[in-house]
Amino acid sequence: MNNEYIAQQLKEISESIFEHGSPWSTAQFLSQLMQENTEIIYQCKDGEMIGYILCQRVLDEAELLLIGVLPNYKHQGIATSLLKDMCQRLQQRNVTHLFLEVRLKNKEAIAFYDKHHFKELGIRKNYYKNPSDDAKMMQLEI
Ligand SMILES: CC(C)(COP(=O)(O)OP(=O)(O)OC[C@H]1O[C@@H](n2cnc3c(N)ncnc32)[C@H](O)[C@@H]1OP(=O)(O)O)[C@@H](O)C(=O)NCCC(=O)NCCS
Repeated sequence: MNNEYIAQQLKEISESIFEHGSPWSTAQFLSQLMQENTEIIYQCKDGEMIGYILCQRVLDEAELLLIGVLPNYKHQGIATSLLKDMCQRLQQRNVTHLFLEVRLKNKEAIAFYDKHHFKELGIRKNYYKNPSDDAKMMQLEI
């Protein structure tokens, strides 16, 4: 799969994965994929992408930009396995801290991050628009 095709697939499945539709356009996914410090792992079934995790490294830190699994494949441990594989890869690249921000109303994702021992760093008020929401900042030592 080339980057253009992967970007298209990411956009397409993200429309179904995220409550408010894909947070990124195909062009945004493509531009992220072209960056040398981007790490992506995706899961396929019968040749179709069903979930992914996307991170960006900066020295010994990384940001978890997006993680998601198609609704029909949730609660099967797919995101857990994507996160574990990503942490392994980041460790190999000498990353020690993984950061993220998540909508405070996204209880499902917060439960997932809690389960995987991410710690809260703080709340940023009105960080998100359309719809507006606060952001919970979290960190995992890997
Ligand atoms: C968050 C998300 C990635 C989890 O994916 P998943 O493959 O279903 O997660 P897993 O099956 O690996 O779940 C692992 C654990 O996370 C927790 N968890 C996951 N979904 C949960 C939910 N809806 N409610 C409560 N806990 C949940 C549970 O502790 C679960 O362990 P268990 O199955 O033993 O109870 C998925 O719900 C998703 O794609 N959400 C929409 C996209 C999104 O909001 N991404 C985060 C912001 S970028």
